Amino acid sequence: MNAVNSIGVARPRIEGQAKVTGRARYAADKPMRDLAFGSVVVSTVARGRIRDIDVAAVKGMPGVLGVIDYRNAPRLNPEAGHFFGPDGGLQLLQDDVIPFAGRAVALVVAETLEQAKAAADTLPVTYDQEPHDTGFTADHPNARPAAPLFDGPEDIGDLEAELAASAVVVDERYHTPEEHCSAMEPHSATAWWEGERLQAIDSNQGPFFIATVLATLFSLGFEQVRVRTEHVGGGFGSKGMCGPQLVLATMGATLFRRPVRVTLTRDQVFLMTAMRPATEQPIRLGADADGRLRAIQHEPAFELSPLAEYIEGCTEPTKTLYAAPAIRTRNTAVPLDILPPYSMRGPGAAPGSFALESAMDELAERLGLDPLELRLRNEPAVGPVSGLPFSSRNLVACLRTGAERFGWATRDHRPRTRREGHLLVGTGMAATSFSVGAFPSVASITAEVDGTFTVIIAATDLGTGARTALTAIAADALAIDTERVRLRISDSELGPAWSAGGSRGTTSWAWAITEAAAQLRDQPRDPSRRVTVTVDTTQLLNDLPSMERHAYSAVFTEVTVDPATGEVRVRRLLGMFAVGQVVNPLTARSQVIGGMIGGLSMALHEEGVRDQVSGRHVNADFAGYHIAAHADVPDIEADFVPDYEPGIPFGIKGAGEIGNVGTAAAIANAVWHATGKRQRRLPIRLDRVV
Ligand code: MOS
Repeated sequence: MNAVNSIGVARPRIEGQAKVTGRARYAADKPMRDLAFGSVVVSTVARGRIRDIDVAAVKGMPGVLGVIDYRNAPRLNPEAGHFFGPDGGLQLLQDDVIPFAGRAVALVVAETLEQAKAAADTLPVTYDQEPHDTGFTADHPNARPAAPLFDGPEDIGDLEAELAASAVVVDERYHTPEEHCSAMEPHSATAWWEGERLQAIDSNQGPFFIATVLATLFSLGFEQVRVRTEHVGGGFGSKGMCGPQLVLATMGATLFRRPVRVTLTRDQVFLMTAMRPATEQPIRLGADADGRLRAIQHEPAFELSPLAEYIEGCTEPTKTLYAAPAIRTRNTAVPLDILPPYSMRGPGAAPGSFALESAMDELAERLGLDPLELRLRNEPAVGPVSGLPFSSRNLVACLRTGAERFGWATRDHRPRTRREGHLLVGTGMAATSFSVGAFPSVASITAEVDGTFTVIIAATDLGTGARTALTAIAADALAIDTERVRLRISDSELGPAWSAGGSRGTTSWAWAITEAAAQLRDQPRDPSRRVTVTVDTTQLLNDLPSMERHAYSAVFTEVTVDPATGEVRVRRLLGMFAVGQVVNPLTARSQVIGGMIGGLSMALHEEGVRDQVSGRHVNADFAGYHIAAHADVPDIEADFVPDYEPGIPFGIKGAGEIGNVGTAAAIANAVWHATGKRQRRLPIRLDRVV
């Protein structure tokens, strides 16, 4: 391998200027001739059937082209699904059944957005309501084992015997609410037909995968569908699946035979796109008096919709972080009449590590031990459950470096010992992991006659800097300057590629690009002729040895608590990360800081509130659903420890989600340290503090 020149160098985003000058077009921005607009009508009841949709009432309204509902909508293939199997969440306008409040019941199509919206707001829809159940508890009668899509049940050692032999046992229960991805850019799609070919511009996390789902849904050949995704204003998981906007825009284009654009309103983004399910997580930890864990039991329950299988894999970090002779994990699903939950910002690990790392802090308290020291004493030599070797594990480096930079050593571990005026002050920490790896992708590289290289992969840039990172990777893989790389991404036509999700985008795409570059460089070349090499990494990935592959982090924080109002302010937030080779320190740092803000927001603000009587989400907007604002966020410190993932090109791991994962527990632990009161329920609202 030639010298690496571009990877590891801080560079601003390639498209940064286009974005700040407004030249970058997002999905809803694209000017288009003959464009019609669809406005979505959603159900106001949580369960039942549609009695009537009075289409005649809006047919004569200005600009209205028509209404699509279950009576005239194109029939969808019920087999269409997501990664986890058939997805009933996608079966829009197929029947009169209302499975949850906020389900699309009609699309009004009109000449302008305003006309569509006016008619949609007017459209009379009546329902035959049926009793619904949206009340989540772990011991709900619907509770059943979660489908082992991943994060399956594990059982090693004799849990009860180890707990009985423990000097100290923590036996607590942690709760996290429904949370919403809330990307800045609402979901938008424009679809149109060119002859027999369906074209779409859509806001999503992976155009190839979305195109395959869309083709299956509409019973089309894959070559009949093209999905493009040029600039995306965040996804956080909610754009990982084929979104309702794309299904509905395609229906509109199909029925009205012209381009139709569907952009969800902010409340529809809450009501119709992925949310993190509420969780309830009992944990038992048993340890010797010296802090060595004997038993870890983590058996979370999460809510689900009967429409689509999903797993909130809360116990992933539990199987990774600490050694113990007995470990037991189980995931329980509770089907309810709710929006199908799906991946959101560090899915599973974020709520899971809140529970585990809070319980570890409680254990340290009961042992009278430094919580940092408790983690160090339980560092495993191999995967605690799997017995597999770790590919590279630099959690201890994160913990030690983070502690040193934070000034952890001087902490008095007793709670409620620091005051500044009327404020209580506390510090807290947490460690965590997030699984990493790569999925099969196809890249092609063309050596052009002008000495440049065209690099093609159906990657997506969610705003994280993927374009910039992949350009650096391609340059180093080809041993050229970045100026000679011409990158094409964001188009399903560019071939199969993994999505920007699961913290596996960059690694998956980098692998394919690196391999294509290696093959191109091995070819004898005539510089006057174009040469193209295309590589599929499926086989290479199959050959990758089985190991425990994770990114790690240690998060330290200082909070103040006003004992009169219960207001928590995060004053310091420091994260140390082991994410493999850092491709672009500028954008990677920005990404983990963004993740930590997400974690802060999860700790203190975010909570989807449901009215159980109506089954409806009552704060489906940015006024009611609080997300950390600038004034809530301190000057965050984030840095990387040296780390390199063996067996993966350039040693990349993936920094997409680890930033999010550890922060909530660190803050909850700091609030306990300030106040002496444990916070086992997120968010840490004022009324839960005082
Ligand atoms: Mo991510 S929440 O896996 O898109």
